[in-house]
Amino acid sequence: MTETRKILVTSALPYANGPIHLGHLVEYIQTDIWSRFQKLRGHECYYVCADDAHGTPIMLRARQDGITPEQLIADTQKHHQADFADFLIGFDNYHSTHSDENRELASSIYLALRDGGHITSRTISQAYDPEAKMFLPDRFIKGTCPKCGAEDQYGDSCEICGATYDTTDLKNPYSVVSGATPIKKDTEHYFFKLGDFKDMLEKWINAGHVQSEISNKLKEWFESGLKDWDISRDAPYWGFQIPDTDDKYFYVWLDAPIGYMASFKNLCDKSELDFDEFWKADSSTELYHFIGKDIAYFHTLFWPAVLDGAGYRTPTKVFCHGFLTVDGAKMSKSRGTFIKARTYLDHLQPEYLRYYYAAKLSSGVDDIDLNLEDFQQRVNTDLVGKFVNIASRVAGFIKKNFNGQLSAQLPRPELYQQMVDAGDSIAEHYENRKYSQTIREIMALADRANEYIAVEEPWAKNKQEGMEQQVHDICTQGINMFRLLCIYLKPILPQTVARAEDFLNCGELSWIDAQQPLLNHSIHPFKALMQRIEQSALDSIVEASKENLQATPQKTEAAAAPVEPIADEIEFDDFAKIDLRIARIVKAEHVEKANKLLRLTLDIGNETREVLAGIKSAYAPEDLQGKLTVMVANLKPRKMKFGTSEGMVLAAGPGGKDLWILNPDEGAQPGMRVK
Ligand code: MSP
Ligand code: ZN
Repeated sequence: MTETRKILVTSALPYANGPIHLGHLVEYIQTDIWSRFQKLRGHECYYVCADDAHGTPIMLRARQDGITPEQLIADTQKHHQADFADFLIGFDNYHSTHSDENRELASSIYLALRDGGHITSRTISQAYDPEAKMFLPDRFIKGTCPKCGAEDQYGDSCEICGATYDTTDLKNPYSVVSGATPIKKDTEHYFFKLGDFKDMLEKWINAGHVQSEISNKLKEWFESGLKDWDISRDAPYWGFQIPDTDDKYFYVWLDAPIGYMASFKNLCDKSELDFDEFWKADSSTELYHFIGKDIAYFHTLFWPAVLDGAGYRTPTKVFCHGFLTVDGAKMSKSRGTFIKARTYLDHLQPEYLRYYYAAKLSSGVDDIDLNLEDFQQRVNTDLVGKFVNIASRVAGFIKKNFNGQLSAQLPRPELYQQMVDAGDSIAEHYENRKYSQTIREIMALADRANEYIAVEEPWAKNKQEGMEQQVHDICTQGINMFRLLCIYLKPILPQTVARAEDFLNCGELSWIDAQQPLLNHSIHPFKALMQRIEQSALDSIVEASKENLQATPQKTEAAAAPVEPIADEIEFDDFAKIDLRIARIVKAEHVEKANKLLRLTLDIGNETREVLAGIKSAYAPEDLQGKLTVMVANLKPRKMKFGTSEGMVLAAGPGGKDLWILNPDEGAQPGMRVK
């Protein structure tokens, strides 16, 4: 084998304000397989990651949940790490961008860039929420599309007509944070002069550090000019303060990739590893970033330039992958295909998904589709029907007839050698991230092994006189072919292969172990290594993912609130007069100048109602849109200061933030009578 390489691998850092879902896992599984493969080959490889813990969305989410950002990110990180561990993602270190290491590295990198003349500042005019007293990122401004007039569109593009525009072009803009109309306000910002790195980047991009699809895209960006990159944000902002400023913070995307270094630094401090060896400008180690195509710009322009400007090495390669679709469409909450990692794990083994993703992944940036029917069939056919089957067909004879002892020779050494030789091209496909080809070749070997056993029919020979030695040799050949497949599949199926190692009584398998078959060796009794995927498990996942939709946003504890006394008794007839209906909140919006009210448009089957509800303290409009609730449908319309309310929605709680609208199961249909 070639000499030992020193490799540092990363996956993009997941945002600390939401759960890991099957889309994310495309990346973590892809990276983990690669990192496990490198280790299996005997290389020194470290796989690090972290939570991306800064930015406005995290600040606002914490506020909405009534907790501190520190609490939110600690809690989220706990869940992320549990999800990753259960998907067998073998990080060598998992850290946070909100860490001392990252603060120090971000500051020193910034200072190096500033001292190198690559930072400039100027006053810009930005949208500002006068009520929430904060500058607003584009995605926190909504309004009416200037092209088609659709309401409640985001600041940069219209979901209805597809138009893209500047936030300033929106009609009737409002802040998603407070509902107030944004104003323009001047503020000084710091910029990274990306243009200083034009030559360096041009060379870097053309030197094979990125896939061809990405370098083509980069060339377009180059042609439209390398603009200064705005790296500062004003208080209040959740992030690191910029050195030598009072109220300026690093934009989250400045310190996020530095989080790769910080996580590795944290690992170095816990071990004998040398940080500088991996990050110094002339490092001979290898650095690989796995990312999704949505964040290529950050990783292939800003990041190499920042590293270069601060005197560090640049990435060996940035590997970009496509997006996950489920059953051919974007993951969807209403169809139950927006599947959280945990929901999957509640019903299925992680290795099924690892295998399926591997079977679909290529080295390109094409999207990959998780087709649930194909998933089930593929796993059942390949893993249970082919791979595991090899061992289960021959193991029993070894145990019963030969006391668990393998024979002294292979009857077909050349067949074994062919399978060893195939390892080279399997390894090449792993190295080049052509996992679908890896799998195709491994399964072709599994077919050959099964064919061999089928032709030799040890179960028939076992019944004939004087065939003992042959049965012993055939089964030994079968076990050894199975063992080879274990080596080849180990990066993808670490858990099953660990169980197989136990069965084979062979210690931890490494790539090099393929060279020598197991002979004259005693193995353990065979236990089933894998079960089939049942349709019911898939149905349950989809069902459970649909339910996720109605999970009411987390709120502060209401338990401490005093219980209101029960009101005076009423007659049944009084109750029967109230017509309660299931309603779908098709639209929820702020009411201008009203402090407590939201205007809800409710679909109750064959008509829609506009209701003014005093729930603004507890819900942002976007939390409600699409949800089911219960309304009093026969309440006489009431004229109010801000308009007429045609009914009432039912809510419970003491008030303020602690108010919950009733939220029936998704199975209910708008218009149904509630009795
Ligand atoms: N926090 C940033 C990354 C900072 S890296 C210095 C971020 N986080 S993310 O949680 O939105 O995404 C993490 C990774 O998962 C990204 O590489 C992203 O492309 C990937 N994916 C998120 N959703 C995905 C799919 N639906 N399909 C495939 N990959 C997806 O971006
Ligand atoms: Zn539009």
